[in-house]
Amino acid sequence: MEEIQHVAVIDFGSQYTQLIVRRVRELGYFAKLYALEDFPQIGKPGAIILSGGPRSTSEADAPDLDFTQLMGFGVPVLGVCYGMQLLNIKFGGSVEASDKREYGPAKLVPAAPCGLFDGIAHESQVWMSHSDTVSRLPEGCQVIARNQHGTPVALQWGEACYGIQFHPEVTHSHEGTRILHNFLLQAGKLEPFRIEDFKKELLADIREKVGGKQVVCGVSGGVDSTVLAVLLHEAGVKMRAIFVDHGLMRKDEGEEVRSNFHRMGVPIETVDASERFLTALAGVTEPEKKREIIGNLFIDVFWDAVGDAELLAQGTLYPDVIESASNAKSKASKIKTHHNRVDRILELQAQGKVLEPLAELFKDEVRALGASLGIAHDILHRHPFPGPGLAVRCPGEITEDRLEIIRECDAIFIGHLKDKQWYDKVWQAYAALVPVKTVGVKGDERSYEWAIALRAVISEDAMTADWVELPYSILRETSHDILNQVKGVNRVLYDVSTKPPASIEWE
Ligand code: XMP
Repeated sequence: MEEIQHVAVIDFGSQYTQLIVRRVRELGYFAKLYALEDFPQIGKPGAIILSGGPRSTSEADAPDLDFTQLMGFGVPVLGVCYGMQLLNIKFGGSVEASDKREYGPAKLVPAAPCGLFDGIAHESQVWMSHSDTVSRLPEGCQVIARNQHGTPVALQWGEACYGIQFHPEVTHSHEGTRILHNFLLQAGKLEPFRIEDFKKELLADIREKVGGKQVVCGVSGGVDSTVLAVLLHEAGVKMRAIFVDHGLMRKDEGEEVRSNFHRMGVPIETVDASERFLTALAGVTEPEKKREIIGNLFIDVFWDAVGDAELLAQGTLYPDVIESASNAKSKASKIKTHHNRVDRILELQAQGKVLEPLAELFKDEVRALGASLGIAHDILHRHPFPGPGLAVRCPGEITEDRLEIIRECDAIFIGHLKDKQWYDKVWQAYAALVPVKTVGVKGDERSYEWAIALRAVISEDAMTADWVELPYSILRETSHDILNQVKGVNRVLYDVSTKPPASIEWE
């Protein structure tokens, strides 16, 4: 494989390390995260960033790296927080341990001309999160910035070796990205971040890890698991992609998932477990109980289908990776709930049998990777759909009749959103059944039927959400079609609740 001259980010365990990688990639450069123990294998980087970390350089077994090797690369180095303190010690200075933590905003006051702060406003806000501080500077070290109290917060040793006490990667450092960019400009020629290159690396990595073994993955039709399965297929490894149909899918969704994979030439196995799920859910109305039943059954059905897996692949993304002081990525991985047979997964993980090829990517990067694998736009840009499916859109009892009503109404609503080019403007939209029957009139007869709630929200991260001011014409046409076409519904409501206090789903 052709070598890419990348930016190597060395992980000293800060919760923000992944963000450094993210920012560098946003700036258009290829960045890779390395666990500290992998430092000797970082290849030929064009620039090196040493991350922050929770430890103190004064500890006996403080995280350390080979300074001679670091300098031997002859490339610009930026130490952030712990990285800066470590560099200061390596250059012959010292660091004072402290129990007191400085956490929060500070002002950045440049103290000497330095390219790192080109174009940065005077007293720009930066974000601190540290306890130890630099106490003695080695000979030849220059203070290039101080905080508002005159304390050094940025140092330069030699020509292109910098240290900053603050975190440029967090948005609270208002011009942090620019500072990172200024640093990278010192590096001369860096390779741009191209998803194509990244794909090549991933494919080579998968081939190496899987070898002749068989790898199993679950597919749901969602973005992450689809990209994962197509990637494994592209790598040409022996794989089984298993799709568990729990009977809580939207209209024609199971068939769509199968035909999408068929079109992409990726074989999948479907396990139709809908009857088992509906039977297990019969008569259950308590939301948490429903979730528990679905979660446990899913795991059982999935693992029964898996049998003796040699390797399991999961579509874990960067944001799924738990904030961790550990610098071992896989150790910090959160297990996706739909594969959560914890004992089994942990066992496989301990044996190094869990692959998480997407674990360095953010959602938009996964979409770009998917596009470069030839996955259709529609699949890559579908709204999020919860693991428990329509169960979280059917308060009260879950019956096939109710699910059928939800499916029909949902399909009508989503159809109108797509027709009117509103689907992509909305973060998530759906129809839910309101388990209340009210009186209405149909023809000459009195009806006593369910109400349907339509919900459309925008959100950044699903933690908060706002309802969308859809054009009345869409609501009117959707309501008209539902009331005329869907048996059992005589009222359509539009949900105008923000999250919080409401949730996105109606469970
Ligand atoms: P709530 O209803 O909690 O939903 O505001 C926030 C987001 O999470 C999705 N969601 C889930 N996704 N498994 C998932 O994969 C789940 O169990 C689950 N429950 C909720 C929901 O669709 C929304 O995007």
